[in-house]
Amino acid sequence: MTQNGQKLQEIPELTEVEREHARALLRQLWRRGTEFLGVPYAILGGAMSWLSERHLVSAISNAGGFGVIACGAMEPHALAQEIAATRLLTYRPFGVNLITMHPQLQDLVNVCLEAEIGHIVLAGGVPSSAVIQRIKEAGAKVIAFVPTLALAKRLVQIGVDALVIEGSEAGGHVGAVSLTVLAQEILPFMREVPVFVAGGLVRGDALVSYLEQGASGGQFGTLFAASTESIAHENFKRAFIRASARDAEVSVQLDERFPVAPVRALKNAGSRRFLTHQAEVIQRFQAEELTRKEAQLEIEHFWAGALRRAAIEGDVENGSVMAGQSVGMVEAIQPVRHIITNLVEQAVTRLACQQRHYVADKVFDKVT
Ligand SMILES: Cc1cc2nc3c(=O)[nH]c(=O)nc-3n(C[C@H](O)[C@H](O)[C@H](O)COP(=O)(O)O)c2cc1C
Repeated sequence: MTQNGQKLQEIPELTEVEREHARALLRQLWRRGTEFLGVPYAILGGAMSWLSERHLVSAISNAGGFGVIACGAMEPHALAQEIAATRLLTYRPFGVNLITMHPQLQDLVNVCLEAEIGHIVLAGGVPSSAVIQRIKEAGAKVIAFVPTLALAKRLVQIGVDALVIEGSEAGGHVGAVSLTVLAQEILPFMREVPVFVAGGLVRGDALVSYLEQGASGGQFGTLFAASTESIAHENFKRAFIRASARDAEVSVQLDERFPVAPVRALKNAGSRRFLTHQAEVIQRFQAEELTRKEAQLEIEHFWAGALRRAAIEGDVENGSVMAGQSVGMVEAIQPVRHIITNLVEQAVTRLACQQRHYVADKVFDKVT
C-alpha cells in the first residue's frame, strides 16, 4: 500500500532476496547523501516555519531521516531553546534552516555553532561568502538552495557543501521552474557536491528516478506537514487531506509595479481577498493617496502572520495554508516513521522491479 491508500502495482512474488539486493542498490544510490547527512536515509524534512520544531524534527531524525529546524523569524535565544529541546528528544543528527535576510543572521549562526549543529541550511536568498566561511571555519556544513546551474557553480566555488534544488511544485516560497526541468539543468553538471531534490515529491519511487539522475537524496515538506507529530492545527491537517493538487496555487500578482513574492498555498477566502486588496491599493496609488513605497508595503503586509494564523491557530480560511501540489496525494494523517518507511519501501520496490526486468532482459538476450 502507498501512503495515499492506493495499491502499488502488484509485482508477482518479489522475493526477500530481490528486496535485499534492491536495498543494497538504494544504499549505493544515495550513499553520498546519507554520508553527508550522517543518517541511514537521505530524506530531509524540509524546514517549515512554525511546524519544523522539536517534535517534527526529532521524529524525522529518529525515523532515520534528517530533520531540520525552521528558524524563520525566531530570535537567537528562542532558537537556542529549540535546539536544546530537540536534543532532549533525539540523539540523531538534525540541522537548522536560517533565512539569510534575518536581521540577526550572524547571531543565529553563532547560536548554531555554539550548539555544535553540524549542518546549517541557508534559505531565502543568496548567502554571502562571509557567512559561508564563518560556518565552515567552525566545522559545520553549509547547505544552500539554488535556482540555476550558474549560481550552483558560484556557491560551490565559495564553499557551499551541498545544494537543494526546489521545483515550483513545492509548498511555501517558490521559484518559477519545475523540479523536472531544474533536475535536468543541474544534476548532470554538478558533481562537486551532493544535490538534494525538493518539490512535489511524496513517493519513494519518484525519488529513485532523481537519484538515478544524480541526486543524493530528497527533501519533503508537504508530506510531513500533516503527519501525526506535526504540531499543525487539526484544521490545517484536515485542509491538506481534503485538497487536490490544483488547490495549491501560487500567489497572483496584479501589477508588475508591485511585486508579490510567489508563495504556493491552498486557495481560500484569504487568497481571493488578496486580489481585491491589491486592486484597492493600486487604485489608491493611482489616485495619489499612497506613494509607491507605501502601496508596496500595504501589499506585503497583507500576509504578515498569515502562516501562523492557519498552521497554529487553525484559521484555514483567512490564513496562509502553504502547501505543495503534492498535497493531493496526502490522504491521511500518519506517523513520521510510517511515512519514512513507506518512502524507503517504495524506493526498494521500484529498484527490485527494475532489477528483475534487467535480469529478464539479460536471459532473453542469451536465448535469442
Ligand atoms: C507550510 C510550509 C512552510 C515552509 N516554510 C519554509 C521555511 O520557513 N524555510 C524554507 O527554506 N522552506 C520552507 N518551506 C519549503 C520546505 O522546506 C520544502 O522545501 C518544500 O515543502 C518541499 O516541497 P513539497 O512541499 O512539495 O514537499 C515550507 C513549506 C511548507 C509546506
